[in-house]
Amino acid sequence: MAKDTALELEAIEPNQHGYRTFSLGTFTFSRDEYFAYVTWPTGSHMMSVDAFLRPLQRDIAWGFFYGIVNFDAVIGTVNHYGTVDFFAGRYNEHYKRAGLDHVENFKTGVIKRVFEAMLDDWTNAAFDPFASPEETGTPFGPKNGSNKAAITRHRVSAKRMVGAPGDEPLRTDDNGFPINRHFLDVPQDEPEIIAEPGFEDEVVAFNLFTYLSRSDVTWNPSIVSACKNSLYCPTTEEYILPVIHGNDRVEWFVQLSDEIRWDVEDRETGAVRAKVTMKAGDVAAMPADIRHRGYSPKRSMLLVWENASADLPRLIASGQLPNTPVSF
Ligand SMILES: [Fe+2]
Repeated sequence: MAKDTALELEAIEPNQHGYRTFSLGTFTFSRDEYFAYVTWPTGSHMMSVDAFLRPLQRDIAWGFFYGIVNFDAVIGTVNHYGTVDFFAGRYNEHYKRAGLDHVENFKTGVIKRVFEAMLDDWTNAAFDPFASPEETGTPFGPKNGSNKAAITRHRVSAKRMVGAPGDEPLRTDDNGFPINRHFLDVPQDEPEIIAEPGFEDEVVAFNLFTYLSRSDVTWNPSIVSACKNSLYCPTTEEYILPVIHGNDRVEWFVQLSDEIRWDVEDRETGAVRAKVTMKAGDVAAMPADIRHRGYSPKRSMLLVWENASADLPRLIASGQLPNTPVSF
């Protein structure tokens, strides 16, 4: 039964470091100068606060995404599309075997409100959870202001395609998106459009490399084109993917520039399944029963191709569709 009472969000006086403590069902969340702490009836967990705030930011911005967002090997969320599980140890073989795992289910709006309040309270003025470590300040220390502009930035979600009339705009110097320091060599030309007479307002094209060279965030797939359930979600990556994403459907990856290395693990247990190195031009289909974390030494461009069909998790979980789109 999903919990939906407003009591989940408790306004508690700040602790000696200036941060509020939050509760969500029987879970509690607190932070000090360096760490985030999570407790539940059968255990407790601590994480470096930067490694906690980065997945928290993405989980909120992505609407809990597809499948599982593991903050690390212990805690995270499962999206049931209307309700969300928060779990501890659920996808960790050893926690499960020891009986220390714990899961509670919440209406999406409830967990979203608690997460948003926590992210707002725990993010200091200098820190941007979406930015690469090289391009933001410190998340550590006693409470020092807030960074509402960074944590509530607009998420690109094109209805048809970036640049189409009335849709998401292109990125330019003038609208606040300068070329990133790692992409100064990316050409900035735009395609020439030669439309049949009468179709001038309907034919649209843009330079995706130019667009991505001006992304101000990392590890944040955003929808640049949509054709029914087929979503192109490119993103720019630098340093480490802050979440370990557990798929509930196949995801296609097209490495558009530079290189990312992926750790691929079993979704349920965390057992290592593969190490994948993707160089520019490489294509991979991540299976529906894995979880993965990427490492990008230099800012790189990755096209994530998602199938948004609401039927896929059920069809795959019931065995009516395979976990992989290709058999060799
Ligand atoms: Fe994924």
